[in-house]
Amino acid sequence: MQPNSLQPNSLQPKRILLIVGGGIAAYKVLDLCRLIRRKGLLVRAVMTKTAGEFVTPLSLGSVTGDKVYGELFSLTDEAEMGHIELSRDADLVVVAPATANLLAKMAHGLADDLATTLLLATDKKVLAAPAMNLRMWAHPATRRNVERLTADGVTFIGPASGSMACGEFGVGRLAEPPAILAAIETMLSGDTLIPLPDGAWADAGDSGRRPLSGRHVIVTSGPTHEPIDPVRYIANRSSGKQGHAIAAAAAAAGARVTLVSGPVALPDPFGVTTVHVETAREMQDAVDRAMPCDIFIGAAAVADWRTGDVAGQKLKKGHGNPSELTLVENPDILAGVARRTVARPRLVVGFAAETTDVLAHAKAKLARKGCDLIVANDVSTSGETPGGVMGQATNTVHLIDRDGIESWPTMGKEAIAERLVARLAAMLAK
Ligand code: C5P
Repeated sequence: MQPNSLQPNSLQPKRILLIVGGGIAAYKVLDLCRLIRRKGLLVRAVMTKTAGEFVTPLSLGSVTGDKVYGELFSLTDEAEMGHIELSRDADLVVVAPATANLLAKMAHGLADDLATTLLLATDKKVLAAPAMNLRMWAHPATRRNVERLTADGVTFIGPASGSMACGEFGVGRLAEPPAILAAIETMLSGDTLIPLPDGAWADAGDSGRRPLSGRHVIVTSGPTHEPIDPVRYIANRSSGKQGHAIAAAAAAAGARVTLVSGPVALPDPFGVTTVHVETAREMQDAVDRAMPCDIFIGAAAVADWRTGDVAGQKLKKGHGNPSELTLVENPDILAGVARRTVARPRLVVGFAAETTDVLAHAKAKLARKGCDLIVANDVSTSGETPGGVMGQATNTVHLIDRDGIESWPTMGKEAIAERLVARLAAMLAK
């Protein structure tokens, strides 16, 4: 067995109880088990009945190196190890894939098979890695169940977005095994921050020592859509990944977070109040309603202009010339917040997405908008990537304040979010 940083003072390797749900993504748990064991951890698998349709006990047994428990607990099993003991023998319970059905049962405390009985009987932390069709994930029933389970202390990793086995594209894919392993290691190490795909974070407890406890943070994220007629709109390429990651990192740092999000294809970060808007004016209203706050972070790519006159009916070819669209300037939400004379947030942070002279433009923006910090990034198109950094997982940023410029190396958007939040917490503590 390899040495393992997770058990420095113990000769006993930590043990994972892996509940495998019945979904197409179940095959990925074979890889997960390999990764877990490579870390020197032990893993014991329990399969639901439908999991057996996607992965066999033989294959699971060979990667876990342990007996695989099935739907029914046989008398022999009970004699070897009672089901209560099986549920408590682990240091962490991991549910992967956590199907919509399994989440519903967990949320309602049903115990009609071995997997759900163990989940009800355990006294250990539970990490759930959901995987399902995007509409099932978005369904109000699943949203309710996830909310309930989050309140009950279950930590979620994922789901990620991408193409699905059913041929659709969206949020619902099982988080990749290395991401699940990272969450497992973080939970076992007692740390409070659990990285999630798509820039979100979950909270594994321990609110006592978090740097933004008691603070309110408002974050704007994503693009805005400015309607032209009932079917067309003006938009931009912002994915919302950076803004959502910042909201989630602030929540993980203990803040109460209001995320005002334009239309994006990302799940709402857990532990964050997300307000969905479409237009710049709706975004401004939502920000005004969420005020006051300690930190305002304008990460949204707000459309500078909207159409002056939204057509009530779909514009037809040949009727009117599209070049005659009149544009009206949108309110500048960031500048409005920064220039408040009553209840101005202690810190106002803007983003500068530039394609040329990034630093010069960002410095000018700091003064023009009246904010305390500008996070500047170069979003110029990089050859094969239309839109440059927009939609990508990494970002290269420069922090500009009145004292100067600090350039950070290229990092994942989650890492930037975490570092930015740590920086803001330190600024607030001064
Ligand atoms: O002026 P520009 O769009 O380059 O400024 C970018 C910064 O200003 C971002 O922080 C963005 O969220 C914010 N902004 C805003 N309202 C606008 C335009 C930009 O809050 N109407």
